[in-house]
Amino acid sequence: MDTSIISFIGGGNMARSLIGGLIADGTDPSTLWVADASQEQLSAVKEHLAVNTTTSNLEAAAKADIVILAVKPQILSTVACELAEVARKHNPLFLSVAAGIREQDLNRWLGGNATIVRAMPNTPALIQSGATALVANNKVTQVQRNQAESIMRSTGLALWLESEAQMDVVTALSGSGPAYYFLIMEALEKAACDLGLAPETARLLTLQTGFGATKMALESSDTLEDLRRRVTSPGGTTEQAIKTLENGNIRHLLKEALEAAAHRSSELADQFGKDI
Ligand SMILES: NC(=O)c1ccc[n+]([C@@H]2O[C@H](COP(=O)([O-])OP(=O)(O)OC[C@H]3O[C@@H](n4cnc5c(N)ncnc54)[C@H](OP(=O)(O)O)[C@@H]3O)[C@@H](O)[C@H]2O)c1
Repeated sequence: MDTSIISFIGGGNMARSLIGGLIADGTDPSTLWVADASQEQLSAVKEHLAVNTTTSNLEAAAKADIVILAVKPQILSTVACELAEVARKHNPLFLSVAAGIREQDLNRWLGGNATIVRAMPNTPALIQSGATALVANNKVTQVQRNQAESIMRSTGLALWLESEAQMDVVTALSGSGPAYYFLIMEALEKAACDLGLAPETARLLTLQTGFGATKMALESSDTLEDLRRRVTSPGGTTEQAIKTLENGNIRHLLKEALEAAAHRSSELADQFGKDI
């Protein structure tokens, strides 16, 4: 059993979700520490999860084999600079879940020689159905890679990228992605209501169809194109709808949407990284 001490810096939504996932996976809560600036936040964490808490980031980080940086991106530079001393003395693995903070900036704030895994989770991680992409710097050992992966897997899918340059696309695809699905479902629900369905019927059919289609695709080894073709009988109803969507250039629109999000992700990373 892995008895590594894991300390969370920031005890908000993402930290609580990871802690819940880790405990559900069998991690002993006494090996977990949470540091947060707010005593109120810590009391809330302690009420639901029997972990150790402190208001001192330094205290939590100094004890840890793995330090999970789970504060907002805007304050990560301040928090990381405070932890540079811990990086130098104890050299723990830093696992950052902060959106848009590049490894080179985090490493600079941590003193320039830190062991870092950068993770990009998404909001469904809060209900253990997330999708996380990971990248490691060259100080990370295989054991630490496995540890980082199993921590993130406690909130859903976790997979490794070939390079950090791919993080902007990941941010555009899975980071922002839940909002695209919500928009599409919102539009389908509204269209079905306009065509005569009761709101609750439209809502439930929309949601279950999205869930069912995703589950089918996950459980099948067929491509998405094959699955789509199989429900699109020649001369049938689906064919008419698909033709309308293709004529409206839905593929081009989605590509443009992803390009715009990836571009913004890169701009934000430049902005956050400038801090210090
Ligand atoms: N939530 C998601 O779905 C999601 C998805 C992808 C990535 N992420 C990343 O996960 C990170 C955390 O997000 P979140 O949603 O969990 O945010 P959150 O709920 O606001 O949690 C951040 C916590 O850090 C605390 N904090 C503020 N300053 C601190 C300091 N100096 N030292 C220690 N703790 C401090 C905050 O306390 P106060 O509330 O008192 O300020 C808050 O409890 C972010 O970097 C975000 O980019 C989140």
